Amino acid sequence: MADPPMRPGRGTRFVHGGDEHDPHTGAVSTPIYQVSTFAFKSAEHGAACFAGEEEGYIYSRLDNPTIKVFEKKLAYLEGADEGLAFASGMAAIHNLICHAAHGGHVVSGNAVYGGTFALFEHLAPQLGIDVSFVDTTDPGNIERAMRPDTRLVFVETPANPTLAVTDIAAAAELAHSRGALLAVDNTFSTPYLQRPLEHGADVALHSCTKYIGGHGDAVAGAYCGPREFMNESRDWRTDIGGVISPLQCWLLLRGLKTLHLRVERSQANAMALARFLEGHPKVERVRYPGLESHPQYAVGKKQMQGPGGILSFDVAGGVEAGARLINSVRLMTVAVSLGDCATLIEHPASMTHSTMSPEAQARYGITPGLVRIAAGIEDADDLLADLDQALAKM
Ligand SMILES: Cc1ncc(COP(=O)(O)O)c(C=O)c1O
Repeated sequence: MADPPMRPGRGTRFVHGGDEHDPHTGAVSTPIYQVSTFAFKSAEHGAACFAGEEEGYIYSRLDNPTIKVFEKKLAYLEGADEGLAFASGMAAIHNLICHAAHGGHVVSGNAVYGGTFALFEHLAPQLGIDVSFVDTTDPGNIERAMRPDTRLVFVETPANPTLAVTDIAAAAELAHSRGALLAVDNTFSTPYLQRPLEHGADVALHSCTKYIGGHGDAVAGAYCGPREFMNESRDWRTDIGGVISPLQCWLLLRGLKTLHLRVERSQANAMALARFLEGHPKVERVRYPGLESHPQYAVGKKQMQGPGGILSFDVAGGVEAGARLINSVRLMTVAVSLGDCATLIEHPASMTHSTMSPEAQARYGITPGLVRIAAGIEDADDLLADLDQALAKM
């Protein structure tokens, strides 16, 4: 048998990379260490573990073998030193801003997931964190928003639900020139299509609820970054307590092994849907980084290995037309979330981004008739037929 390649391909990395067979049993699927606490060999051993003088598990809010395997694998896939997993994507973002920006200022993209917006707009100020929202597709806006106390620049790219793309390298340069960190919410792309650290970002963050879990059955989050920063972040997680469960990590590890296949199929379906919608008389505008008409098409090409599986579009007739379309699909599932095997369709203004006031929605490009589709892995022809019959009813 030929030796395995020294530099495995992108897909092979998801199957084999970053995790080993269980060192105790050789189990090829990582065991679920569903345990809260770990026995010490003696009082001295316990004290040494607490003092960090000996390696050993203590308590699963601090560390756990199943969680560790997932964190190591995600860090490997993102090209980071360390990863940390959380109970949800929002728990990850909360931990990140508490650690990176406590008592300071954050510059955030204005196109971000609605939950992120709510955390930044309403709760962060109560934690002493001031957040400025800017259109990060123009790096000049980041520069103008930065202050002497800016500690973190936070961007989602591609962004939810506008699919706006931010130039990661330009944002990183600006953040670093003022001593701030750049964190990229990489949920839409996954490390299969985009590795933000390769473009200069410090932190890559995920709602693992999406493509990483991939089957609509896990809620989880994670971020990866440089060792020292992540060690401190671990202390914040220990004290805040937003840790993930071993079972959830097992679901994510299983999801990662097929992520490259699912993302390829989801992306091919999204491209077919985007092209179909772009030529449709009842559709006013399609937003998808894979279309030449996308305003940041060139930036996307530069930093992404592909445009991904999510698109949004405005149907002629505004909010009522959008609702009618959503109520007319037969195969697609009317649901929030994304990265599932099934294609999901939703209305951002009344669902994922309803935490934003109508004024903020208008300011940040979330039009009343915007519909978001997160393509699944079904056959493209079935999805096209479904949209076709739904649009015909309008
Ligand atoms: C881009 C993005 N980031 C973060 C989150 C929050 O993740 P979670 O729902 O796992 O808390 C979401 C959720 O939809 C998201 O779409």
